[in-house]
Amino acid sequence: MSLKEKIDPGKMPKHIAIIMDGNGRWAKGKGKFRIFGHKNGVGTVKTITEAAAEIGVKYLTLYAFSTENWNRPKLEVRALMELLVDTMRKEAPTLMKNNIRLSFIGNLADLPEKCQNQLQLTMDETRENTRMNLVLALSYSAKWDLVQAVKNIAIDTKKGKIKPEDINDKLVDKYLSTNWMPHPELLIRTSGEKRISNFLLWEIAYSELYFTEKLWPDFTKEDLYQAILDFQNRERRFGRTSEQISKQ
Ligand code: IPE
Ligand code: IPE
Ligand code: MG
Repeated sequence: MSLKEKIDPGKMPKHIAIIMDGNGRWAKGKGKFRIFGHKNGVGTVKTITEAAAEIGVKYLTLYAFSTENWNRPKLEVRALMELLVDTMRKEAPTLMKNNIRLSFIGNLADLPEKCQNQLQLTMDETRENTRMNLVLALSYSAKWDLVQAVKNIAIDTKKGKIKPEDINDKLVDKYLSTNWMPHPELLIRTSGEKRISNFLLWEIAYSELYFTEKLWPDFTKEDLYQAILDFQNRERRFGRTSEQISKQ
């Protein structure tokens, strides 16, 4: 039985989030510049997007560029932005063919204008697609999102739109830029690093975490299936006891 066949379609995570890490080390290992790793990372994005859609995942969120990544050398940042525009332009037809809707989370206003325009175009073009939502986190950090949510809650409270006693976790959810999607059940990070690096802090409160040593350009469909199988074999207790869960 293949790994893919072992996956239980009834226990498929609706939302998988991935911290795509290790492009730089992958390139370095081959004696190449870091950007060579990013270019090869795009290939993995295509493979994993296709695999996720194929097995019935509804939301796939990929951490592509963090708020902190703006601190990288200017040359690398510029190359990443160009790669992004290029990829959007080239891959829009594939998204259409596969019925995948593309969206973004993050402070897009920080991106170069050319980049913003291309993102908008691809987003508009794929808006009606329904098979899967592909969400790219760009100039994103969880703290950025939480801060903008807190600001807007304060503004709406001042205006009298909400009362302080209305503020609860459901309301905070509504003010986050992820308010239109379910929280991820599974979070994957490649490259052996075991940290969250400011990704979806609120939304992963109860996510299952999966870390793999594989560098992102080497991550395959089989690796994705392995992560999903690992997830399906876990007992998600949400604070309850194992006995309570088995009685359900
Ligand atoms: C992840 O790979 C991609 C981005 C952050 C854009 P890295 O570029 O972080 O690769 P490493 O971690 O240096 O190997
Ligand atoms: C996290 O990777 C951000 C993305 C994958 C886009 P980094 O490689 O930037 O994370 P740190 O700085 O090593 O934690
Ligand atoms: Mg890294």
